[in-house]
Amino acid sequence: MTVHFIGAGPGAPDLLTLRARDLIAASPICLYAGSLVPADILSHCPKGARVVNTAPLSLDQIIEECVQAHAQGLDVARLHSGDLSIWSAMGEQLRRLRDLGIPVSVTPGVPAFAAAAAALQTELTLPGLAQSVVLTRTPGRASAMPEGEDLANFARTGATLAIHLSIQNLNGVVGRLLPYYGADCPVAVVYRASWPDQRIIRGHLRDIGDRMDGSVTRTALILVGPALVGEGFEDSCLYAAAYDRRYRPQGDTSVWHGWSPEQEGTRHD
Ligand SMILES: C[S@@+](CC[C@H](N)C(=O)[O-])C[C@H]1O[C@@H](n2cnc3c(N)ncnc32)[C@H](O)[C@@H]1O
Repeated sequence: MTVHFIGAGPGAPDLLTLRARDLIAASPICLYAGSLVPADILSHCPKGARVVNTAPLSLDQIIEECVQAHAQGLDVARLHSGDLSIWSAMGEQLRRLRDLGIPVSVTPGVPAFAAAAAALQTELTLPGLAQSVVLTRTPGRASAMPEGEDLANFARTGATLAIHLSIQNLNGVVGRLLPYYGADCPVAVVYRASWPDQRIIRGHLRDIGDRMDGSVTRTALILVGPALVGEGFEDSCLYAAAYDRRYRPQGDTSVWHGWSPEQEGTRHD
């Protein structure tokens, strides 16, 4: 018996991994975080499965579900939205289950920030504009931010910021970032990336607040940074014709001369 923690993706049912689908289909019990995991994904549960929305449950009640399943030798599919490595509350569940000696597995999912970037058809790391992406949030009612993890500190780097759980604090976010990124810095708000009612609101730090109509109050990402403009950047070296690299040695004097991909048994660009 195993509790399978599964990243259920950003919303679209076909943005689930094959492994996730198969684990859900093989588990007679499914515990899902109902606030963000779409019902379509539950259609992979086997007939007669016990399917429990954990949104109204406490941590103790969720663990009790797992303890009962363990006693009966039944696998559990534990679904959280997006990927499990960020804001999934998996950590506290893992700790309890490990203490109880209940086996677990972890299957990654497509995170919301990747779905939002896909919706924007944007690369978040463009040469010369941004080479880092910061996944962050602002403090919430239930979650203080550790000292030092302040938007201003991240903003100082000029990286692309993917700000979660903060749409209700958009004005505060803008105020915090303006001194670092400037009024003309592009911003995109992506609401329910990959869902049928996905919405994209583009603007700049100076006007994004005015472009919102008040209807987006949750399940939205705020993406900020120069890379969002999507132009004014240089080509990367990766495909540059004259760039000497392992997979495309430039002449006999190349340090890669004589090397062949088969030597590693793998091929990449
Ligand atoms: C509790 S966190 C879950 C993050 C998730 N584990 C992930 O990997 O993306 C919820 C926040 O993620 C963002 N989010 C989750 N799904 C989203 C989606 N489909 N579109 C836009 N933002 C989303 C929103 O900022 C939301 O407030």
